Amino acid sequence: MSERIQAPRGTYDVLGDDALARDRLAGTARGVLEAAGYARIETPTFEATALFARGVGESTDVVRKEMYTFDDGGGTPVTLRPEGTAPVCRAYLEHGMHKLPQPVKLWYLSSFFRRERPQQGRFRQFWQIGAEAIGSDDPAVDAESILLLAEILEAIGARGLRLRLASLGTADSRAAYREELTAHLRSRADELSPEVRERISLNPLRAFDADHPGTREVMRSAPLLLDHLSDDDHEHFAAVRALLDAAGVAYEVDPTLVRGLDYYTRTVFEYTSDALGAQSGVGGGGRYDGLMEEIGGARAPGMGWAAGVERMLLASPPVPVAPPPVDLYVAYAKPALRAEAFRLAADARRAGHAARLELAGRSLKGQLKQADRTGARYVAILGDEGTSLKDMESGEQKTVEPGTVMHHIRGAL
Ligand code: HAM
Repeated sequence: MSERIQAPRGTYDVLGDDALARDRLAGTARGVLEAAGYARIETPTFEATALFARGVGESTDVVRKEMYTFDDGGGTPVTLRPEGTAPVCRAYLEHGMHKLPQPVKLWYLSSFFRRERPQQGRFRQFWQIGAEAIGSDDPAVDAESILLLAEILEAIGARGLRLRLASLGTADSRAAYREELTAHLRSRADELSPEVRERISLNPLRAFDADHPGTREVMRSAPLLLDHLSDDDHEHFAAVRALLDAAGVAYEVDPTLVRGLDYYTRTVFEYTSDALGAQSGVGGGGRYDGLMEEIGGARAPGMGWAAGVERMLLASPPVPVAPPPVDLYVAYAKPALRAEAFRLAADARRAGHAARLELAGRSLKGQLKQADRTGARYVAILGDEGTSLKDMESGEQKTVEPGTVMHHIRGAL
């Protein structure tokens, strides 16, 4: 025998109850998002590498070390999508969606790829449900977007949730602040972790995210971006908070909240769950008013979020999910009756019933046992002496005229 080939590290198969739970989650998300006017979008699994390099940002971990990039065969580098916002913006531009009534609201359920160290809740291929609203900078867009994720998480019973909220201001207000923060970090550079120290000029804000004790101590006295917002940014943030308050969404303003992607402006937020381990982020997002220009389009402000499917499922209690019911199981006594049985099962399905046919050559006894295992409501038994129909609920069995099985079960189902 050859060596058995296994799935790559950080990937997993979806099957059994997990597959049913995912379908249920997808249905819940679809219900919440479509009721708010979000339409489904699906973009390609790979994109031009430049889309992420420019969109997500050269200074991020995602772009620096986590992307699966390869040559498309013609000399153009392409990348398995590590996230969905830049691709949705690309699609917005490519399809001239600025001509539609704004904002354009789109949602997706797709798989994403990041070369991270696999652990509980962290995979190299993972799934996200995401929502993007593009073309309006009204703070109501921000608040509604956050509210929709809150509703989905509530509907699935996610436990131990905490919503953190902040504003990163616009690129202008951030530029002045960055200088101040950089100066603070430089003045105490020897206390910082080597990684933070190396990135002082590249991405000083990420220092807020560090676990390193020395760095944390330095950050305790660091200037805060929330204290450096422009009047317009302040007003926008206050309006978002007021709307969330009106909707009864509980949140904490956390001035140290930073996100791992570079495109954010103004509102940022993150849901964590203490039902998860170290990877406590369930979902997050924010506003990205400059992203469209970054990837070569005209200005179009956007707001959105994405939540990890695996983490949403981990954070919510397992719901017993019943396998789909079986209306009719068609058994037959000998091979000569297979064609007739085949036709009956096909007819039943065409009439809208869930019907199963014996497919493994079992004995009649074995077939009846199998019918019982599937939980079939009725079993049709095709035999030499005609056809009989057994009601598995009452146990009653009767002989029926050939060709009338459908007629008999239709009334009862
Ligand atoms: P993100 O915070 O990088 O944001 O990812 C969103 C969510 O995806 C995380 O909260 C987590 O639940 C899940 N996730 C991320 N990486 C992994 C992984 N390696 N394994 C399992 N789950 C993971 C974004 O991706 C932005 N595009 C969100 C956004 C949309 N911002 C604006 N619009």
